[in-house]
Amino acid sequence: MQKNNISNSVIRRLPRYYRFLGELLNQGISKISSRELSEKMRLTASQIRQDLNCFGGFGQQGYGYNVAELRREVGHILGLDKQDKMILVGAGNLGRAITVHIDFAKYGYELAGIFDSNISLENIEISGIKIMHTNKLPEFCAEHKPSMAVLCIPKSGAKDMVKTLIELGVNAFWNFSHYDIHYDYPDAAVENVHLTDSLMTLSYAARSKQEYSPECAPEGDADITEE
Ligand code: NAI
Repeated sequence: MQKNNISNSVIRRLPRYYRFLGELLNQGISKISSRELSEKMRLTASQIRQDLNCFGGFGQQGYGYNVAELRREVGHILGLDKQDKMILVGAGNLGRAITVHIDFAKYGYELAGIFDSNISLENIEISGIKIMHTNKLPEFCAEHKPSMAVLCIPKSGAKDMVKTLIELGVNAFWNFSHYDIHYDYPDAAVENVHLTDSLMTLSYAARSKQEYSPECAPEGDADITEE
C-alpha cells in the first residue's frame, strides 16, 4: 500500500471516512457504493474515489466498497491498529477532560503517563493513571519511550517543555498550548488544536449569507471536480 506523498487534504479527510464507516457498520450496512457514501458524507463520488485511490483503491466495479474492509484499511493507514506510547503534560482542567473523554487505545496510542509541574498533584489518579511530577520525565521516557505528547500547559511553559521532550525522544505533539512548535522544530509532527479557531469559523458562517461548510471545503484540491 502506497502511503507516501499523500496530500494533507486527503489525510485530513481520512478520520471522517473512518467515523462514517464505523457508523455504517453500527447500522448493519456491509457494502456501499461511492455514490451512496458521497451522499452521506457530502463529498463528491469522484472525490471519494480519488481519495481512496491514493492508497490503491478498495472498491470493486459494480459492487462498491466493503464497509468493514475499507474501515480497517483506513484505520491501518492512520495507524490506529498500532499501540505506541504517549504521555500527557498538564493535568489541569483541559488535561483531565482529555484523559477522561478520549479513549486513546482506539486511536493507536496507549496513554502511559500523565505529568504536571505542580507537586501537590503527584499521585492523584485520573482514569486510573497516577499523575507524576515532571522531574520524573527523563526516567520515564528512558524506560517507556513515548513517541507522542499531549500538551495541555500554558504557552509560557511550553517552549521549555517541548525542548525537554524532544531531547527525551518525543517527536509528535498534540498541541493545545498555543506555542508554535514548528517555528523551533520544523521536523516535529505537530497537530495544533485551537478550539477558538473553530468558533471563529462558525462565527463567519453564522453571520454570512452564503452557506459555508468546512467539512465540504476542498482544502486546496483544485483538481477535484463534481461528476
Ligand atoms: P489549568 O490551569 O487548569 O491547568 C494547567 C495545568 O498545567 C496545571 O495543573 C499546571 O500545574 C500545569 N502546568 C503549567 N505549566 C506546566 C509545565 N511547564 N509543565 C507541566 N505542567 C505545567 O488550565 P487548563 O484549563 O487545563 O488549560 C491548560 C492550557 O491549555 C491553558 O494554557 C489554556 O490556554 C490552554 N487551552 C487551550 C485550548 C485550545 O483550544 N488550544 C482550550 C483550552 C485551554
